[in-house]
Amino acid sequence: MATTSADSMMAPDNAMSRGPSASTRTSENGDGPRTLEEACQRLLSRTDEMPADEVDRKADGDKRAEVARKREAWRSLVLSVGRRYEACRLETFEVGNEEQRAILASLRAYADNVDRHVKAGDNIVLFGPPGTGKDHLAIGVAYVAIGRGFSVAWFDGQSLYQEFRDNIGGDRPERDIIARATRPDILLLSDPVPPRGELTDYQATILWRVVDRRYRDMRPMWITLNVASGQEASARLGAGIVDRLRDGATYGWCGWGSYRKPGSERDR
Ligand SMILES: Nc1ncnc2c1ncn2[C@@H]1O[C@H](COP(=O)(O)OP(=O)(O)OP(=O)(O)O)[C@@H](O)[C@H]1O
Ligand SMILES: [Mg+2]
Repeated sequence: MATTSADSMMAPDNAMSRGPSASTRTSENGDGPRTLEEACQRLLSRTDEMPADEVDRKADGDKRAEVARKREAWRSLVLSVGRRYEACRLETFEVGNEEQRAILASLRAYADNVDRHVKAGDNIVLFGPPGTGKDHLAIGVAYVAIGRGFSVAWFDGQSLYQEFRDNIGGDRPERDIIARATRPDILLLSDPVPPRGELTDYQATILWRVVDRRYRDMRPMWITLNVASGQEASARLGAGIVDRLRDGATYGWCGWGSYRKPGSERDR
């Protein structure tokens, strides 16, 4: 095997810091490695020689840093979606009918295999009337994905389009704004269709660029849509976009009543 500089970059810091003295020592006592490859193998295996508590401390430190990173990723998602959604988990979604049970089960299946689904670029599309918990469910899956180390960006359709509009004539290259929606492992997009009326040509173009880019790169999109049917989704988003979103997706019609209630009803 040819030894490259990339091999030595993989060596743990503590092993590398001992590198020069190790090679000096081998030349002194004649017990040194005969090839560069053997020398690298010896360096890489040095963590085995670390006292157990030193290894444990390093592992603890790495784990704490990883937990802190994930916590920060979740905090930043909640900041963009809104505090109302902080407690959204698949486990906190109340089930009152068979349709809810079926959608929850399909999202659980996705969440249980989130590594495979994200790597395969599998989308989630939830559509239906207002207040049915579409965002709650999508954010519940996002919580699991962040726990597995994936990056999740959230946009609602209107703020995505507004960001582009505000930049017209500005100095930010458009590709930088697009990148915010195309680079993260997962894009969670709430309501890309406007509450009333059609997408403008400009909005449709932006959406097309984001959806098509992510589709090509096999990066999943999790979309919640406030529409009454698949036909309405096609009519309002455009058939090409819906076709890409639907390809291999976990696809769910949330047709039950709104969870939102006046305070007097909720207290009953
Ligand atoms: N089955 C449920 N169990 C617990 N909470 C729910 C349920 N359904 C909805 N909610 C809560 O109701 C609120 C509204 O839900 P959410 O925003 O997810 O609905 P939506 O379908 O995305 O609505 P819209 O189409 O209007 O955007 C949220 O606070 C959510 O946590
Ligand atoms: Mg919503």
